Amino acid sequence: MGLLTQVAGDVDYARHGTDYAGHRRTDARIASLVVAALGNAHSVLNVGAGTGSYEPKDRTVVAVEPSPAMIGQRPAGRAPVVRAVAEALPFGDATCDASMAMVTVHQWPDPVAALAEMRRVTDGPVVILTFDREALDRLWLMEYAPELRAAEAARYPDVAAIAEALGPDSQMVEVPIPLDCVDGFTEAFYGRPEAFLDPSVRRSQSAWTFLEPGVEQRVVASLADDLASGWWDERFGHLRTQPQFVGAVRLITGGARHR
Ligand SMILES: C[S@@+](CC[C@H](N)C(=O)[O-])C[C@H]1O[C@@H](n2cnc3c(N)ncnc32)[C@H](O)[C@@H]1O
Repeated sequence: MGLLTQVAGDVDYARHGTDYAGHRRTDARIASLVVAALGNAHSVLNVGAGTGSYEPKDRTVVAVEPSPAMIGQRPAGRAPVVRAVAEALPFGDATCDASMAMVTVHQWPDPVAALAEMRRVTDGPVVILTFDREALDRLWLMEYAPELRAAEAARYPDVAAIAEALGPDSQMVEVPIPLDCVDGFTEAFYGRPEAFLDPSVRRSQSAWTFLEPGVEQRVVASLADDLASGWWDERFGHLRTQPQFVGAVRLITGGARHR
């Protein structure tokens, strides 16, 4: 079976990902940045594709995804999927016009090898949506859960190293998160704190699975208390109406391959 084991990344989606498709959907505002970064590519490879978020409908997309649990949640009509890992892409050199990897690089056991693979199979842009570990503490939740911040910071590859791996023309932009973002990663709820009280929201965010027993319950209880007492709103209530939040989300685009 080689690199393609039952759990190819650092999360067992058969145990922890059963609510993923319900809470983690394509956000149109973020998708528009991804589509622009893909340029005029016709064929697009989506690596670590999960349930298919952000796959453009007007291109020829092939998805790469190792987890049967995630493949099983892909809605009908999504792109065809190859069960494989980013570290060993079963495609020839420069066989796709563009490739993309959305919110997945932090789960890869060997991101250096995997990014080199994406660069190898891609003729044009390589587009990575990820989080800057240095900016994770912009979100108030990390005050309640420093353990969550530590777990996340340990997982995310350095964004500058990602850009370097994609080639000399790489560009990185901060991605503003809209207040009603429908892709339910943690920062998406910067202005909707009650969402973290919902266990199914937390189950679609892999970071919680890395906490020691009892920490998640402590964080949720403390947040619930502060919401009930009005203390959260006193400190952070302005976020409930703030239209966008610039936190840790980054879009990194590597330019065309150099021959
Ligand atoms: C947080 S999900 C993101 C899924 C999707 N791209 C999205 O935006 O919703 C991370 C995905 O990366 C996949 N993954 C983990 N390790 C991988 C690897 N080594 N190669 C490719 N994909 C991997 C997981 O199975 C999971 O589907």
